[in-house]
Amino acid sequence: MAKMEVKTSLLDNMIGVGDMVLLEPLNEETFINNLKKRFDHNEIYTYIGSVVISVNPYRSLPIYSPEKVEDYRNRNFYELSPHIFALSDEAYRSLRDQDKDQCILITGESGAGKTEASKLVMSYVAAVCGKGAEVNQVKEQLLQSNPVLEAFGNAKTVRNDNSSRFGKYMDIEFDFKGDPLGGVISNYLLEKSRVVKQPRGERNFHVFYQLLSGASEELLNKLTLERDFSRYNYLSLDSAKVNGVDDAANFRTVRNAMQIVGFMDHEAESVLEVVAAVLKLGNIEFKPESRVNGLDESKIKDKNELKEICELTGIDQSVLERAFSFRTVEAKQEKVSTTLNVAQAYYARDALAKNLYSRLFSWLVNRINESIKAQTKVRKKVMGVLDIYGFEIFEDNSFEQFIINYCNEKLQQIFIELTLKEEQEEYVREGIEWTHIDYFNNAIICDLIENNTNGILAMLDEECLRPGTVTDETFLEKLNQVCATHQHFESRMSKSSRFLNDTSLPHSCFRIQHYAGKVLYQVEGFVDKNNDLLYRDLSQAMWKAGHTLIKSLFPEGNPAKINLKRPPTAGSQFKASVATLMKNLQTKNPNYIRCIKPNDKKAAHIFSEALVCHQIRYLGLLENVRVRRAGYAFRQAYEPCLERYKMLCKQTWPHWKGPARAGVEVLFNELEIPVEEYSFGRSKIFIRNPRTLFKLEDLRKQRLEDLATLIQKIYRGWKCRTHFLLMRKSQIVIAAWYRRYAQQKRYQQIKSSTLVIQSYIRGWKARKILRELKHRKRCEEAVTTIAAYWHGTQARRELKRLKEEARRKHAVAVIWAYWLGLKVRREYRKFFRANAGKKIYEFTLQRIVQKYFLEMKNKMPSLSPIDKNWPPRPYLFLDSTHKELKRIFHLWRCKKYRDQFTDQQKLIYEEKLEASELFKDKKALYPSSVGQPFQGAYLEINKNPKYKKLKDAIEEKIIIAEVVNKINRANGKSTSRIFLLTNNNLLLADQKSGQIKSEVPLVDVTKVSMSSQNDGFFAVHLKEGSEAASKGDFLFSSDHLIEMATKLYRTTLSQTKQKLNIEISDEFLVQFRQDKVCVKFIQGNQKNGSVPTCKRKNNRLLEVAVP
Ligand SMILES: Nc1ncnc2c1ncn2[C@@H]1O[C@H](COP(=O)(O)OP(=O)(O)OP(=O)(O)O)[C@@H](O)[C@H]1O
Ligand SMILES: [Mg+2]
Repeated sequence: MAKMEVKTSLLDNMIGVGDMVLLEPLNEETFINNLKKRFDHNEIYTYIGSVVISVNPYRSLPIYSPEKVEDYRNRNFYELSPHIFALSDEAYRSLRDQDKDQCILITGESGAGKTEASKLVMSYVAAVCGKGAEVNQVKEQLLQSNPVLEAFGNAKTVRNDNSSRFGKYMDIEFDFKGDPLGGVISNYLLEKSRVVKQPRGERNFHVFYQLLSGASEELLNKLTLERDFSRYNYLSLDSAKVNGVDDAANFRTVRNAMQIVGFMDHEAESVLEVVAAVLKLGNIEFKPESRVNGLDESKIKDKNELKEICELTGIDQSVLERAFSFRTVEAKQEKVSTTLNVAQAYYARDALAKNLYSRLFSWLVNRINESIKAQTKVRKKVMGVLDIYGFEIFEDNSFEQFIINYCNEKLQQIFIELTLKEEQEEYVREGIEWTHIDYFNNAIICDLIENNTNGILAMLDEECLRPGTVTDETFLEKLNQVCATHQHFESRMSKSSRFLNDTSLPHSCFRIQHYAGKVLYQVEGFVDKNNDLLYRDLSQAMWKAGHTLIKSLFPEGNPAKINLKRPPTAGSQFKASVATLMKNLQTKNPNYIRCIKPNDKKAAHIFSEALVCHQIRYLGLLENVRVRRAGYAFRQAYEPCLERYKMLCKQTWPHWKGPARAGVEVLFNELEIPVEEYSFGRSKIFIRNPRTLFKLEDLRKQRLEDLATLIQKIYRGWKCRTHFLLMRKSQIVIAAWYRRYAQQKRYQQIKSSTLVIQSYIRGWKARKILRELKHRKRCEEAVTTIAAYWHGTQARRELKRLKEEARRKHAVAVIWAYWLGLKVRREYRKFFRANAGKKIYEFTLQRIVQKYFLEMKNKMPSLSPIDKNWPPRPYLFLDSTHKELKRIFHLWRCKKYRDQFTDQQKLIYEEKLEASELFKDKKALYPSSVGQPFQGAYLEINKNPKYKKLKDAIEEKIIIAEVVNKINRANGKSTSRIFLLTNNNLLLADQKSGQIKSEVPLVDVTKVSMSSQNDGFFAVHLKEGSEAASKGDFLFSSDHLIEMATKLYRTTLSQTKQKLNIEISDEFLVQFRQDKVCVKFIQGNQKNGSVPTCKRKNNRLLEVAVP
């Protein structure tokens, strides 16, 4: 839903007055009271016309959220309550839409919130301007330049924990659409004296503490630094830690920001190296050493630190050491070298540290500028943001305060000029007569300071350049002579001085009456600080550094470019840069933010009136209001004015049809506002006195109350009426529904009663009919029953008669049969009893046997000898016959089966039979061999050409040719051998070559031994003393042990007619050469799975592990 556009005004819900221009009466007290009242209600912003006063709340307020940004976006300046966003929006829109370059001038004393304000402005602009990857990168770089500059340029002071110790002006550049393109930063006067010395309770620049707390050990080692702050003379110890500040985390933020801004890694490292070098410079200490000429010369106490600095920066140690001990002055082509005493050496060291740091800072600003500068050449619009130190009045004011206050004078000058100019321009634009405004013009003070001939800065320069002894006192004397008569210059030195008796003015001081108040300056140090002297020997030493960054910071050290002309003094440099700044600002439309610090304690909720009063005075805020109110206090365009006050006049309420100006005229006439109180401009009405405006506001408030009552009245009437109508309508609806319901209920009742009556009558009728029908039916049934009984009686009588007749006939037949039977039995009795039993018995037996055989014929089992089926026995007395028959049948079918065999098969079966006799139930391996056909020649020696020689060597018939494992007698390991059995011999041959290894005639084989288990091991025992037995008995293992043993047995039997002894035992003896070795079979070793393993345990025992 679109946000409803509500016309509001600054004047709505105002706390005090939102715009000081409307303050009545206007004086310091009412001004401060108004600020305080608003501050107490968290309203930290107040306007003076278009100037924003900001009071530092010292706590975070929820007024900078993205929703607030949206609220203030594209709204008129006076539409909402005062806010820095309103000013930012006004500036940005006027830049984008009206093509006017803008500058935002933020002033105020230290800790008043200038830097925060500048960041708020930048973040607001970043939030409302264009979006997109490129634009976002530019924004990010612009925003991230802040943490880098703050790390190097800000420090904790007693006034502010994050005090900017430099002035900053940043131009943000935009394209025609209002998208940011880039920026340029200018820096002013870094407070470099802080590098070497900090007042009590203050710190050095943040970066030193950040580096020591946040750098990794590795980085610290590289920079030869230690984490302990107390190791460094330049870091005052009493306030090294700041509450709520995490230096280590900030270090990471700064490194990250440097990366975003575009610093290369090596650049960032160089920067840190310079920072480290500055820190370490502070640790160089000097001691006096007497020379022959009686003068004291300084010597470096401990050269270690110097050595580390030189290593870090690539400077020749001897060069730097010399630069700390001598000073070369060149005059008229002559070089004069003088030695430095200890104080001078310290001065030189500190000057070097200060210069190194401040030049590094300027280099950083330039480097950032290089990164953030706009990339395109298109015409740019510019918004400048100036965050510069405000007016400073301390107890001891020195050169720095003088310079700063000078800058503020210039800013006040430009403020007056531009405000008046704008005011005047507006009057001309609106066609209103311009009346002269009385105000204090501070141009005269600016002149006192910057006049080229007799200005204070010019005289200071003159003094610095003058030959001869120059001191701060000679400078003051000169000032007294030249400025004695100036209205704003005060001093006691000159005899004619008006202040001879003013004790508040010490002799070594001068006082200037600035536009914001009187400031007393201590003249001590003016000359020195203006000179800003760095001995040439030092700059030359720096230029010779191997470190490229340091070298580039000291271009004047280059001997080729030696320039005897003195470099510009600090004062004149500052004057020039301020002049450039002013020129720049003058071309732009100014927007002011005046920051005020409510208390000295950095605490929230405290509003110290005295402190605020002081600031209001020196910021010239009352002056500001007066200038603004000089002509007319309030102005407003006609449309919003008419919109706001139209309810005060009948003609304009509720709608005015004509032009807005005419409407306002009618309105003002009607209200009888005196004509001198207002003027009609071209587009705006100008109101001279705030009183008039407040009168209008009061009338409006009253009228609004009346209107509210009216609206309330009408609304209440309308509400009651609509309520009544609604009630009436509801009542009708309810009544209608109720009637319907009642009728429905009555109808249901009548209907159900009718049904009950109906059902009673119908029931009664039905029962009547039923009764009649039942009666009729019973009558019919009675007739039938009577008839049935009658027929029954008839039938039974007839049946009785027939039965009687039949019984009689049957009795006759039976008696007759009995009679016949008796006669026959009497006749045949003699034959019957003697033979019938035996005959019947034989006959019956014959019949049964016949039947048995006939049935057996059909029930015969198959001819397979292993078929165990046989039909069951039918009669017990045939039991033996049945068994005999089964035996005969089995023998017969076995014979039949055998008749089929060829001679060869018969031989095989003979062999199998032999094997069964030898091994069945003796050796566990036997059952598995039954199914294997005995092949004998597994190895086809005839066919394999490899064994041709072997084949040729054997003439006899080969019975077994098979590869066996021959067990090595010594260790139990096995080798493959070809095992050959012929009719007369047993041969062993090499498996690969076929060469015969041993030949044993069968007559020499005495015994074969094996275990009873499921393994293939066997020993072949040889006849003692035979030739073959020289090495001992053989021990083999074979997959076909049963077959081989059988064949060996049979062949021996057939050839030698002797039965070969086969021993089956789990422990037997064999003869290996001279030893009798026991072969022992043990069970259960599962190590090698199912393969039996053989191991020679000692010379008496060989163990075979069988699975
Ligand atoms: N609008 C604000 N809201 C909350 N806190 C603020 C605001 N403005 C300033 N502060 C607080 O006040 C402190 C000082 O503000 P800031 O650093 O902006 O002062 P400054 O005017 O820049 O001072 P210096 O001249 O010393 O640089 C901030 O660190 C912050 O804590
Ligand atoms: Mg600041």
